[in-house]
Amino acid sequence: MAKVHIIGAGPGAIDYLIPAARREIEKADCLIGAKRILSQFCYPDKKKMYLEGHFNEAGSYIKKNKDRKRIVVLVSGDPGLYSFLRQVQLILKKEEYAVIPGISALQLAFARIGESWQDAKIISLHGRGKGNLAKELKDCGKAFLFTDAKFPPEKIAGYLLRNGIKNRRAIVFEDLTYPSERIVDTDLKALSSERGFGLCAMIIKK
Ligand SMILES: C[S@@+](CC[C@H](N)C(=O)[O-])C[C@H]1O[C@@H](n2cnc3c(N)ncnc32)[C@H](O)[C@@H]1O
Repeated sequence: MAKVHIIGAGPGAIDYLIPAARREIEKADCLIGAKRILSQFCYPDKKKMYLEGHFNEAGSYIKKNKDRKRIVVLVSGDPGLYSFLRQVQLILKKEEYAVIPGISALQLAFARIGESWQDAKIISLHGRGKGNLAKELKDCGKAFLFTDAKFPPEKIAGYLLRNGIKNRRAIVFEDLTYPSERIVDTDLKALSSERGFGLCAMIIKK
């Protein structure tokens, strides 16, 4: 039987999905992923399972059906960065699954500003809160942050200012690849009084 495929769907719009991923998705019996990601795929004949709040059910389904169904797990961006791949690694043997990379929100954000990112610090605040963020950014020239609704850009900016991180350029990337894409290129002080960001990531630079 085919392996379970963990596929990076890119930041959102279907144009950013690589052809090898598309071929595997077309062959699948079941697509598992976040609602936002699965909503880009219209295959009425395929079973769809949403991941939100159903991590354990998805894991059990994969274990139970891996030998009789072609299962594709679609994650946002690249599977190697803060994705459901970690859970799959815990329940399947390496020979039972294959990973197809995708374009990360990180890559796209740096592409939008025309800069390289090999020297950037990558930090995820997604579902984790601020932790040691101020300490991590103290001597950091270039950082990329995955954010979430609980700790949005304006709160991150306010927190950093209160903790001695000042004079930094702050760039917010909202809804990358969607028609609503918006890039706000500003500094921490101005950002701290902005409101209303949705799905977004940030670059903070000296
Ligand atoms: C759980 S992390 C997964 C990261 C993903 N594996 C990647 O490589 O981009 C989800 C976070 O990625 C960022 N993100 C994903 N898609 C995005 C988009 N279209 N626009 C802006 N940020 C996005 C947001 O910070 C979001 O909270």
